[in-house]
Amino acid sequence: MEKQEIRTFGRRHGKKLSARQTMLIDAILPTIFPNDLPGKTGKILEIGFGAGEHLREIARQNPDKTVIGAEPFMNGVASLLSAITDDTGAIRNEYKNIRIFADDVRDFLRQTDSKFEQIWILHPDPWPKSRHEKRRLLQADFIKMLASHLTKSGEIIIGTDHWEYFEWIQNQVTKTALDAHTPDIQTIHTRYQQKNKAGTTTPKYMIIRASGD
Ligand SMILES: C[S@@+](CC[C@H](N)C(=O)[O-])C[C@H]1O[C@@H](n2cnc3c(N)ncnc32)[C@H](O)[C@@H]1O
Repeated sequence: MEKQEIRTFGRRHGKKLSARQTMLIDAILPTIFPNDLPGKTGKILEIGFGAGEHLREIARQNPDKTVIGAEPFMNGVASLLSAITDDTGAIRNEYKNIRIFADDVRDFLRQTDSKFEQIWILHPDPWPKSRHEKRRLLQADFIKMLASHLTKSGEIIIGTDHWEYFEWIQNQVTKTALDAHTPDIQTIHTRYQQKNKAGTTTPKYMIIRASGD
C-alpha cells in the first residue's frame, strides 16, 4: 500500500454551509475545475487561498491570465464562490478567469504539467509546535516541486507573519539549488493576516525564481 502523505492543513469543513453555498459547491464548483487549462494563456497559481480575497484581486488584475486556486477548506472555497457569483449563481465577468481545485495542491500538481508565471502562498499554516513541524507545507521537496512548475521567468511568492516559519522556509530553500530574495512588499492583505495570530508587526515576503537568479 502506498504510504499516506502527511496532511499539511487543518479542517476541511467548518461551520455548516448556507443553502446558497451548498448549491454553489454542487453546481458551480465542478464547472470551474482546472482540467482544461489553455496552453498558451499565462497562468497564476495561489495555494491555500483561504477565503480568496487575494485570489480575486489577482484575477481582476490579470484578466488575460488563468488564475487557479487550490484550497481544501470547503468553507473557504464556499466564501470564494459566493464572492465571485451573482444572485443567479453565474460567475461574474471579472472572475471568469478563475479555476478552483478544492483539495490538496500536491494532488493538483501531480496531475498537471502546466507551468505558472507566479505561484503565491500567503500565510501558510505555521504548525508552530515542534511535533507538528513535519506538517509544514514548505519543505525542500515541495519547494522543488513548485519550481518544476514555473515558467522560465516564473516566481514563487511566499508571505508569512510567522517569522520563525519564515526563517525555517529560508533554511529549506538552502537544501535546494534555488535562491530566495526577500523583497519589501506591503500591499497584500488577507483575512488571516488581519488576525495576525503571530503577534508580529509585519509579514515577511520571499521570492524564489525558476532561473535561480
Ligand atoms: C493560515 S491559512 C491562510 C489562508 C489565506 N492565504 C490567508 O492569508 O488568509 C492557510 C491555508 O492553507 C491551506 N492549505 C494547507 N495545506 C494545503 C495544501 N496542501 N494545499 C492547499 N492548501 C493548503 C489551509 O487549508 C488554509 O486555508
